[in-house]
Amino acid sequence: MRTTRSATEKKPARTRKPALHPDIREVLYTQEEIAAKVKTMAAQISRDYAGKEVILVCVLKGAAVFLADLMRQLTVPCIVDYVNWSSYGTSTSSSGVFRILQDLEESVESRHVLIVEDIIDTGLTLHYLLRHIRGRNPASVKVAALLDKPSKRKIEVHTDYCGFKVPDEFVVGYGLDYDQKYRNLPFVGVLRPEIYAGSDTPPDKP
Ligand code: PRP
Repeated sequence: MRTTRSATEKKPARTRKPALHPDIREVLYTQEEIAAKVKTMAAQISRDYAGKEVILVCVLKGAAVFLADLMRQLTVPCIVDYVNWSSYGTSTSSSGVFRILQDLEESVESRHVLIVEDIIDTGLTLHYLLRHIRGRNPASVKVAALLDKPSKRKIEVHTDYCGFKVPDEFVVGYGLDYDQKYRNLPFVGVLRPEIYAGSDTPPDKP
């Protein structure tokens, strides 16, 4: 459940980078910047989990790209599992009630779990996923998120490893979609508003 910048909020000043796709207004993080960040995060995670085995829990679909790059940089033994949660609600709000389309296959009891997310927005997905996993008595649970958009938080959640704090824009690429498209872009960029203007399925509004 992701949200756009509200009309009343000012866009933060930052250096503009060239757009690499006609539907992208601005590139926020280039392929190279993301690769460097993922490498740094993986090094930190590998240090923290030294001597342990970790279960990487990838939250489908968006986190699949981040997971694929992150896991190949890890130096600790890891197992991969996937969950897919769908939020009930409307295009304008999340109900905070989730339907589990795909649950964990691995037992996490007494094991170290690292949730892998592409973006934390309202925090609702992560909040309920943490509760779900903690109910299964893991040895530990931590969170690695490539992107964090704190301006849209509806519930407080803690992220142990965070790549970038993103401004309040609708971002796509590197796994993140609009209407299931743009996940394949190798960078993270801001979608042009005219792409979703008048659409039946606009990005979620605050
Ligand atoms: C995105 C993202 C997170 C969630 C974060 O998934 O991958 O799982 O939203 O939003 P929240 O903090 O407001 O809960 P989305 O529901 O868009 O599905 P997708 O990963 O399949 O694109």
